[in-house]
Amino acid sequence: VSEAEMYRPNFHFTPKKGWMNDPNGMFYANGYYHLYFQHYPEKNVWGPMHWGHAISKDMIVWEEQPIAIFPDKEKYIFSGSAVVDTQNTSGFGKDGKAPIVAIYTLHDMEKGKDGKLDTEQQDIAYSTDGGFTYKKFDEGNPVVKNPGIRDFRDPKVSWDEARKQWIMVVAASDRDHFYNSKDLKNWKFLSDFGKDLGAHESVWECPDFFQIKVEGTNEKKWVLLQSLGQGAANGGSGTQYYVGDFDGTQFTVDPNFEQRIKREKAVWIDYGKDNYAGVTWNNIPTSDGRRLFIGWMVSLDYGGSVPTNGWRSSMTTPREMQLIKKGNEYSLISNPVKELDKYVSKSIEKKSLKVKGKTALFESGKIDLRQAVISFDLKNLKQDNYTFTLSNAIGESLTFGLNNAENYLFVDRTKAGKIDFSDKFASIVHKAKLDKNQKEANFKIVLDKTSIEIFYNNGEKVMTEIFFLNQPFNSISASSNSGIELTNLVINQLNINQNQ
Ligand code: FRU
Repeated sequence: VSEAEMYRPNFHFTPKKGWMNDPNGMFYANGYYHLYFQHYPEKNVWGPMHWGHAISKDMIVWEEQPIAIFPDKEKYIFSGSAVVDTQNTSGFGKDGKAPIVAIYTLHDMEKGKDGKLDTEQQDIAYSTDGGFTYKKFDEGNPVVKNPGIRDFRDPKVSWDEARKQWIMVVAASDRDHFYNSKDLKNWKFLSDFGKDLGAHESVWECPDFFQIKVEGTNEKKWVLLQSLGQGAANGGSGTQYYVGDFDGTQFTVDPNFEQRIKREKAVWIDYGKDNYAGVTWNNIPTSDGRRLFIGWMVSLDYGGSVPTNGWRSSMTTPREMQLIKKGNEYSLISNPVKELDKYVSKSIEKKSLKVKGKTALFESGKIDLRQAVISFDLKNLKQDNYTFTLSNAIGESLTFGLNNAENYLFVDRTKAGKIDFSDKFASIVHKAKLDKNQKEANFKIVLDKTSIEIFYNNGEKVMTEIFFLNQPFNSISASSNSGIELTNLVINQLNINQNQ
């Protein structure tokens, strides 16, 4: 493989060329999942922002499409959302076909340079061909004027069925602003949220706001996802979330969840370094009913310096988000979408594995760890360290696991190949605190050429991390001083190779 393609993942979405950051405007219609993304096609660094576009039948294999929305000179198209306007509330529809309406931030670089406050405003564009080409709403933009706040961006719009209204949430520096509309063109300010609660180490960006059922009940809650550039669990950028209620005007956090936020400082959807600016899909059919998510798989700490050529950065594996309740406590869990299972080409299964010391999970050469999903349970855990090591023939390794003496999950990529492109990449072991000592545990690991996504206890804690090896990993082993009892080990070989 050429140097440019060496680090291109097998199945995580990447742009063919140029720079990519946040996922934007995802919706589902006519059998296709659409994904737009912050894109500068000319170079693999951030620049004039376009909305790149890709479509997929299953969120796993993507076909990149021509660019959907172009900047106009210094007026960049920043992050935002898109909705399928099934009732044609906007009137943009033609011949009875539902229009797609994109709602995004227009960022004026010239005003930005002059230090003007009104650098960012919310604009819309519409598509009458199912999301492939868009027309900017020149006669009516901006649909939300800048209220005198410099950082005022990333509108996420969704339909509030109970009130029959569109709701827009916009990140406004240290809080979110909520708006409503009947037609996606005229918006009214409703309320703000979040100024004094959760993480605030830098300005808020890329919110998402949706209603979701509590698993196994008929109770419904509202969830706010809130990304920010600094202050995540292991430093740098991350996405926190809030669970609560919405009365059509104001979002209020559930009192128990508020206690949890105060206890933990912030509650994150992912405790790894590399999941930022993620949002969820619009218009998933009710017969499906899932809340589907994708994030930008890198940290703002080093997004511009990861060692790829010709293109830069990838998305996470798409995930299903669910809300669970234990006692009085709500948690948002995420797991890889089930569509990934379609690509399993062979499996190794072991019902149980009891060992002292260190053991390989499969015979060398049997599985290609550049696209694999590994899951297992750990039983009879002691107050000890349970370490899993991915390694290759030239001594590169990545370890992850559970420290059940000090109660945390960890990922250590300090020896996993190239790390010196940023001192924030791998100078420390990354951790996710657990609130107590564990008796048993469950892990699901999704591996691609340049990433590991760890879903702990059915997605209650997630850690997403990228790495850049000089040779692929070819072995994974488990070790613990007090012995390991591993059950239900399944190693699934995937065969996707969309990017070869
Ligand atoms: C997040 C972000 C957004 C903004 C976009 C610009 O990574 O800073 O807030 O809209 O990137 O590309």
